[in-house]
Amino acid sequence: MSTIIAPSILSADFAHLADEIKRVTDAGAEYIHIDVMDGTFVPEITIGAAVVRSLRKFSSAVFDVHLMVEHPETQIKSFADAGADIITFHVEATRHPHRVIQQIHECGCKAGVALNPGTSLSMIEELLEDVEMALVMTVNPGYGGQKFIESQLGKIHMLYHMIDEMETECDIEVDGGINSKTSVLVREAGANILVAGSAIYGAENIAKAIKDIRGKEIRHRHEDYDED
Ligand code: DX5
Ligand code: ZN
Repeated sequence: MSTIIAPSILSADFAHLADEIKRVTDAGAEYIHIDVMDGTFVPEITIGAAVVRSLRKFSSAVFDVHLMVEHPETQIKSFADAGADIITFHVEATRHPHRVIQQIHECGCKAGVALNPGTSLSMIEELLEDVEMALVMTVNPGYGGQKFIESQLGKIHMLYHMIDEMETECDIEVDGGINSKTSVLVREAGANILVAGSAIYGAENIAKAIKDIRGKEIRHRHEDYDED
C-alpha cells in the first residue's frame, strides 16, 4: 500500500500560503491538509472558505480539508464551492453524521470522518461503508506541534481490520505528532495517509522530511494473500 503525504499548512507561514503549498508539492507531497478551526470545537480560529478559494487558484494538489468545527453541516457547501476535494468532519461535532456525509457527496467531494483520541471506534463503525476516509487523531485537535498519543495505535490497527473485513474501500488518515519515527508505527498499524505539520514545515530539508515520513513501502498481510 503506497503512502500519501499530507502536509498541514497550520505550521506554514500564513503570510505566504501559496508559496508554502508550492514548496511541499514540489517536494513530493500529494495532498494539502487544511485545518479549519472555529474557536468553539477547538479553542483557536484558523482558515475559512475564502482562503481556500484563493489558494485553489495556485495549486492543483488535492485539498484535504479538516473541519474542526461545531455543526459542520453549515460549512460543507462553502468549502466544496471554494475548491475542497476531501471534506472531513468530526463525528463528535454533529448529531447527524450520516447526513453530513450525504451532503459532502452531493457537493461532489470525497467524505472523511474524524475521531478524537477519546472517542471509540464504535462511533464511526456504521459510517465506514459510506466514507472514503477515516481520520484517527493522534493528538487532541487544536494545535500543531503536540506529542503523538501512542494509545491510538491500537485503534488504527482495529480500524484497519474492520475495513478489511467489511471489504470496503476506505483510506485511513492519521493526524498529530507524525514524524519520521511515529510514521513507522502508524503505517505498520494500517494508516495510508499521513498528515504532518511541524515535522515538514519545521524541517530544513523539506524533501528529505517528506521522504523520511513516507518511509519504505509496507506490505500488510492480506495484500500478500491477494497476490497468492
Ligand atoms: C491539529 C491539526 C493537525 C496539526 C498537526 O489539530 O489537525 O493537522 O496541524 O500538526 P503536527 O504534525 O505538528 O502535530
Ligand atoms: Zn488536521
